[in-house]
Amino acid sequence: MCGIIGYVGSKQALPVIIEGLQRLEYRGYDSAGIALISPAGNIEVRRAVGKLQNLVTQLQEEPKPLKGSVGMGHTRWATHGKPTELNAHPHRGPQSRVVVVHNGIIENYVQLKQELVQSGYSFNYSSETDTEVIAHLLEKCMLREGDTLEQATIKTLNRLKGTAAIVAISLDDPEKIVAARLSNAGAVVIGYGAEVEHEMFIASDIPAILPHTRRITFLESNEVAVLNTAGVTFFNSKGEVISKEIVTVNIDAISAAKGGYKHFMQKEIYDQPQALSDTLLGRVDLENGNVKLEDFKFSKSDIAAIEKVTLIGCGTSWHAGLVAKFWIESLAGLPCDVDYGSEFRYRDPILTPNHLLVAITQSGETVDTLAGIEEAKLKKAKVVSVVNVVGSQAARVADGVIYMHAGPEIGVASTKAFITSLADLFLLAVYLGRERGKLGADRAQSLLQSLVEIPNLLANTLLENSIYDQISRKFYTAKDFLYLGRGINYPIALEGALKLKELSYIHAEGYPAGELKHGPIALIDEGLPVVAIVVKDGLYDKVVSAVEQVKARDGFVLAIASEGDELIAGKADKVIYIPNTDPLLMPLLTTIPVQLLSYHLAEIRGCDVDQPRNLAKSVTVE
Ligand code: G6P
Repeated sequence: MCGIIGYVGSKQALPVIIEGLQRLEYRGYDSAGIALISPAGNIEVRRAVGKLQNLVTQLQEEPKPLKGSVGMGHTRWATHGKPTELNAHPHRGPQSRVVVVHNGIIENYVQLKQELVQSGYSFNYSSETDTEVIAHLLEKCMLREGDTLEQATIKTLNRLKGTAAIVAISLDDPEKIVAARLSNAGAVVIGYGAEVEHEMFIASDIPAILPHTRRITFLESNEVAVLNTAGVTFFNSKGEVISKEIVTVNIDAISAAKGGYKHFMQKEIYDQPQALSDTLLGRVDLENGNVKLEDFKFSKSDIAAIEKVTLIGCGTSWHAGLVAKFWIESLAGLPCDVDYGSEFRYRDPILTPNHLLVAITQSGETVDTLAGIEEAKLKKAKVVSVVNVVGSQAARVADGVIYMHAGPEIGVASTKAFITSLADLFLLAVYLGRERGKLGADRAQSLLQSLVEIPNLLANTLLENSIYDQISRKFYTAKDFLYLGRGINYPIALEGALKLKELSYIHAEGYPAGELKHGPIALIDEGLPVVAIVVKDGLYDKVVSAVEQVKARDGFVLAIASEGDELIAGKADKVIYIPNTDPLLMPLLTTIPVQLLSYHLAEIRGCDVDQPRNLAKSVTVE
């Protein structure tokens, strides 16, 4: 999500920091900021909303260039608080003696803030972020308890809950930078610079510091690093010194920006277990079988009055809606329909104040989906947006928001935003079901338990499997593919076909398996590969019979099947197994093979995976 860079050495820190931020900008561009310890004994902080260029322009307009050889920078992808200058990092303590940047989410910041207020601290420039509380805690430890910056950081780390990569500097300990990593926060990379320059670096990924060093160490969970011109010292959360290994990396900057992956889309596919964990963080109450949706601001009586739900979206987001219809109907007991944003806006839909419109959009800027929201608002329906980009239009105009927390999605074809929007919609269905008394605590607990296990199952589904390569080599010249699914997995057949079209330019169709005999069966021959989603749910036998119909006509079948299903191995030509879970949650797993298959086929055909021809990441025209 956010990007962090820090420098201590004999050179001027500012150019190093700006160059590092340029390499980190893909992680977020809601705002950028820097902080330097100046030779005059101040901490200079500069921040600007929007892309890094705005900050660079602001710095160029300064009467004199900012000086200092200890400093840090941050590029923000907003999670807590809108993308404003007040919310931009770095954040200061009340006396501006400590400055901090942060990547992650502090779950207990409200409680910590209350404690600080009770002990006499005022949040004098009050951002809406969870980060400010860290600066206050650090300053409190240093000024009131006489701690060094590292002692203050260790104490603070032990008070925080959530995920956080933190970097801090202080006027009262001006020759060092301290970094800490709480729990499984994003990466914190320590770089060992040229000895002659007595320099050390810190960054949230390798490419930010790759022009300066290839010798690095990764900070693990609950570790602290103290950097100065003499080197680095590592501590565990008990304050004990620990030793860590230096590794030499041998990668070029561009491939490192993709985390070692060849394409952003490939990285984003493999990021999905983490993205899903981030989405679930702090929202699932397993003990009581409840869901917390922080920005879903409808009263209990509003929720009780809902008579109908309509889901709208475009492209992949529309497919998420098709899956969610099953959840809303079966868990919340509400009638539900799904529409394309582009169709909904023109069909004069019947909407009332007791109607809930759910707009699903990764970017929050898709014009057809926004027009659907407008239509619903005109007719006084309640509107909630399921959005990835914080502060986007769909988030701003809706009555409530459920964020995806997928992090920036750079590949044009959507992958991790699909999985995280599914998670959001599942949480919404459970939430509505619980609030409306349609879903019992026991069933909710068991579903939520299965949901929190999905990130691990996703990781298993992403393990190396040579089948993708075999199928791609066999069928890379195919003109068409047919995807079959049934029930809640039919939308995944549609998503598989869409991904293949977008990425590899092979024509593909998704079909409900039960409809095969009503037309598409005429297409079947040995040249038409069929991908059948045939998992163990209530419709298993029906899909198996569709597979048999294809085989009887010499078609080729790749089955996506449940682990342990031996029967299907005797019927399909190839099988990709996925782990078992509650049938309602299967789409979160069946999605992975269709994403990987499209990726491999596009690769072998030499297509531009990250920026397929004619497409755009966010479509802001009709
Ligand atoms: C474009 C993208 C798709 C995306 C769709 C909807 O067509 O190429 O990947 O699914 O827009 O975008 P949204 O941001 O509204 O989810």
